[in-house]
Amino acid sequence: MTSLLGIALLAVALSGPTVAFVPVGGGASTHVTITGTALLQKVTETCRAVAVAGGYEFEPTGTSPEELVQACLGPTAVGEVSGAKFYSALQQVYTQNGLVDRDFVASDRHHFNSETFFEGRGLITEGVMAIKANIRQENFQAAREILGKVLHTLQDFYSHSNWVELGNTEPYINLIRPDLPLDNLADVNTPTCSDCASGTCPNQILPNILKEKKLTSGYMGIFSPFKPKGKCSHGGAGDLTSTSDPRGGINKDERRPDNMALHDAAVKAATAASLELLQDIRLTAGDNDFLRMMGIARSSVVCFVIDTTGSMSDDIDEARSVVYEIIDSKKGTQDEPSEYILVPFNDPDFGPMIRTIDPDEMKKQISKLRAKGGGDAPEMCLSGLQLALTGAPDSSHIFVFTDATAKDIALKDTIIALIRSTKSKVSFFMTASSKRRRRSVASASFNDYKDLAVASGGQAIQVSKNQLPQATDVILDTSTSALVTVLQRARSPGKPETFTFLLDESLNNITLYITGTSISFTLTNPSGVSQNSNEANGKLGTIQSVGNLRRIRLNHDKQAGTWKININSNQPYTIKVTGQSTITFIYDFVESFGGPHPGYAVLNGRPQAGQPAKLMLSMMGRKGPSSMTVGDVGLVLVSGPEAITGGTKTDMGNGNILVNVDSVPEGEFVLTLTGTDKVSNSQFQRQSTTQMSVSKVHVQAVVASSVEPGKPFKLPFSVMTKGSSGQYAINARNDRDFPMDYPKSLTVTSGQYTNATLTITPPANTQSGTDVTLTIEAKSSSNTDSNYAVLRMSVVTKITDFVQPLCEVVSVIDDNCPDDLSQCGTFTWELSANLTDGNGTGIETISLHQGNGTLLHTLLSTPIVNANYNASCCSQVVEFVAVDKVGNVGKCYHSIVRSGSPALTLSLPLWLCILISAFMARP
Ligand SMILES: *[C@@H]1O[C@H](CO)[C@@H](O)[C@H](O)[C@H]1NC(C)=O
Ligand SMILES: *[C@@H]1O[C@H](CO)[C@@H](O)[C@H](O)[C@H]1NC(C)=O
Ligand SMILES: *[C@@H]1O[C@H](CO)[C@@H](O)[C@H](O)[C@H]1NC(C)=O
Ligand SMILES: *[C@@H]1O[C@H](CO)[C@@H](O)[C@H](O)[C@H]1NC(C)=O
Ligand SMILES: *[C@@H]1O[C@H](CO)[C@@H](O)[C@H](O)[C@H]1NC(C)=O
Ligand SMILES: *[C@@H]1O[C@H](CO)[C@@H](O)[C@H](O)[C@H]1NC(C)=O
Repeated sequence: MTSLLGIALLAVALSGPTVAFVPVGGGASTHVTITGTALLQKVTETCRAVAVAGGYEFEPTGTSPEELVQACLGPTAVGEVSGAKFYSALQQVYTQNGLVDRDFVASDRHHFNSETFFEGRGLITEGVMAIKANIRQENFQAAREILGKVLHTLQDFYSHSNWVELGNTEPYINLIRPDLPLDNLADVNTPTCSDCASGTCPNQILPNILKEKKLTSGYMGIFSPFKPKGKCSHGGAGDLTSTSDPRGGINKDERRPDNMALHDAAVKAATAASLELLQDIRLTAGDNDFLRMMGIARSSVVCFVIDTTGSMSDDIDEARSVVYEIIDSKKGTQDEPSEYILVPFNDPDFGPMIRTIDPDEMKKQISKLRAKGGGDAPEMCLSGLQLALTGAPDSSHIFVFTDATAKDIALKDTIIALIRSTKSKVSFFMTASSKRRRRSVASASFNDYKDLAVASGGQAIQVSKNQLPQATDVILDTSTSALVTVLQRARSPGKPETFTFLLDESLNNITLYITGTSISFTLTNPSGVSQNSNEANGKLGTIQSVGNLRRIRLNHDKQAGTWKININSNQPYTIKVTGQSTITFIYDFVESFGGPHPGYAVLNGRPQAGQPAKLMLSMMGRKGPSSMTVGDVGLVLVSGPEAITGGTKTDMGNGNILVNVDSVPEGEFVLTLTGTDKVSNSQFQRQSTTQMSVSKVHVQAVVASSVEPGKPFKLPFSVMTKGSSGQYAINARNDRDFPMDYPKSLTVTSGQYTNATLTITPPANTQSGTDVTLTIEAKSSSNTDSNYAVLRMSVVTKITDFVQPLCEVVSVIDDNCPDDLSQCGTFTWELSANLTDGNGTGIETISLHQGNGTLLHTLLSTPIVNANYNASCCSQVVEFVAVDKVGNVGKCYHSIVRSGSPALTLSLPLWLCILISAFMARP
């Protein structure tokens, strides 16, 4: 069964790339371009509103996402801002949008196929409610992922139904308004299409369907040609129903000569519908949280995981003083952190995770930390780290302070899976405890922390407690909005070696870090000037040495070009070269998938061994993707030898580059690339920091819906190996400690999927909008190979309230306002409205969206809320919005703009009006 399907899908995929309403493609409109257009427009609108409210100008220097971010962050834009976060957020939405065509290819409701209008709307409703609940809990990633999926279904309506054939040019608002009916649907016994022998006919919808404006959609059969009598098909090679009478199909996925007008109308309506859905979310979330969801925030995040056992009081003091220093020194700059995360751990307790955007709250929380309890025993370090990795935005820098080994070392594989999936960097400050009995193995056991640091591209810094204050500059270095890595390598065992790296014009504050013991080095610039490790203040920069760390800050007049560093050591060491620059990139390992709408999906887990690795890469610079060219892209082993396995590049449009690497190196590798910045016409080099390696094992799982509190949720998953058959140990963990049930071991036959089910049950009192990150690992019994899947789920209370708050304008007093607007300044008008939420959950907020007047309202807890608005006659429009407790949005709108040309209307003779209406009445 599986292999048959595989072949069928492959055949379809090979039959030629499709171009529209497909996940990605060249040129024409795709789900990505429709989604992208809507997101950029809504973000721009929101940025403008925030700027107006903040009293500053919103003037992007161009239309690229990076320029939009820079302008949106406003006058704090002292210093450079990287567009990476915004790009990643967009990419996440696009990816999840595209995945609907892989993971739910045969589910009619996900595509509004086969007249599943109620079911499709149900998915949209459930999704929108989950998005709103997640934003409320600041789970922006979960919100973005659901947003991508919901937009896909919404957009498909316009391609797969006859909405545009019916002459509609506007979106069908009822799809995002569950309180409105879905009327006039063609029932299952009503034929809807005429036969089309050629498969592509301009209009197959039956005339009476068009006349009666009945809504229908094409039937889709991936496995079976069956469809009810007389029904339209979806059409296309993947649809088996398209060859049964009536043949053909009504999908507008692709733009063909026979359907150009309909395709264009569908794209237009789908874009407008996406905008409406985004506006609904924006009104519920508020402008600031909407922008945060979209990754428009200063990119630096402070994330500390702190051991609070008895011997840690010096370390806690130091962590506190670093936090204070970051907060106080970066305030008002682009480097000011946008979020603070703090996770304490002890023994046996850890957490809770404290997450805030308020610097004063962070100061308060970190001031409350006290060292207490814990004995000689190791502590729950990795449990704390797990919370930080799942709670912090992707690509965060996480700093762990501890003086003991981890008791929960069994979590190590889970942590590595989370590091690979989030691309966050974890650095450890390991201080030897003087008060504790010296454990003979103490230093050796820190090796687990060193492994995690290297795997993530972070550092494992080992210092004494009194040296700690000299080592924490590393944290300040990362607290910037535009940090990039030029080079990073690890050697274990160490050997003398020379590393070269390219520094470009755009780089500022270039810093080299070397960790290791018994090390000496020589740094050489492009013109041959050298500095030795024993020269603390040399010609090239300043060298700071503390514990196992050397930090080299290059002088500001650094030279662009190829630099060299020769490291001399026989002990394990790491080297890293970083700087600040807006030239950066994001990437994901992807796999292609077939089906009626083929595309690329971000890999969940490690890439498959024995086949080419594929990466999707986006470059960003100061002026968008068009201002850069990418040169060589390849994979390189972190632990040597220094050989880059090059990849071939394919431009996928929208700044996406597909990289194909045929023979993937054996071992842990990173991505390295070079390119040219057209703005400064200079060459640059960058690399990724998260280590990756291939695996013969594959763990597959898809979360199909949100989870309800108190209800067991069944998650099917399957494990496959291209390696040897045998027993595979299954290990699943979630960051909320929700009870789970799953087989601890599976028998896997080489080349075949073994299916199993995991049941997770969030407690009944789980708050709606809680997200859970679940990691499922499968490991061969010989321990030689393993892989994982990281899944995010949302716990959402089933919503029954779809009632929007209602607004009734009770009175408007605008008689004062003069017709001549130049005299409006001294006059005012006012409006009074009654707001109710029927038997819904009740109004939670009322906010002003348009108008420069004053809005006051009575207590929200009363059944009827009275709102009063007064404003200058110059401000002629008011719009305010009431949001109920589950996020339904109701609007009040009123305009006192007098009719544009009143004179004309009044001067039309009465007889002419009568004549006109008589003509109009004629059939
Ligand atoms: C370099 O970093 C320092 C603080 O470490 C900061 O004051 C300075 O503005 C940075 N320079 C640039 C060019 O960003
Ligand atoms: C097992 O899982 C695979 C992949 O998820 C799926 O294609 C297949 O139909 C499943 N097999 C059975 C017997 O359920
Ligand atoms: C508006 O609400 C008030 C109570 O707050 C009520 O007395 C009044 O009748 C309502 N007006 C209308 C038009 O519903
Ligand atoms: C209350 O809500 C239910 C549906 O949940 C609806 O059937 C009923 O008519 C509503 N009652 C009022 C008074 O609005
Ligand atoms: C609007 O009402 C508020 C509060 O009642 C009052 O302070 C303000 O002066 C009024 N503004 C105008 C323009 O009438
Ligand atoms: C509010 O005032 C600003 C300038 O003060 C003006 O640009 C804007 O159009 C006004 N808004 C409305 C809705 O009148």
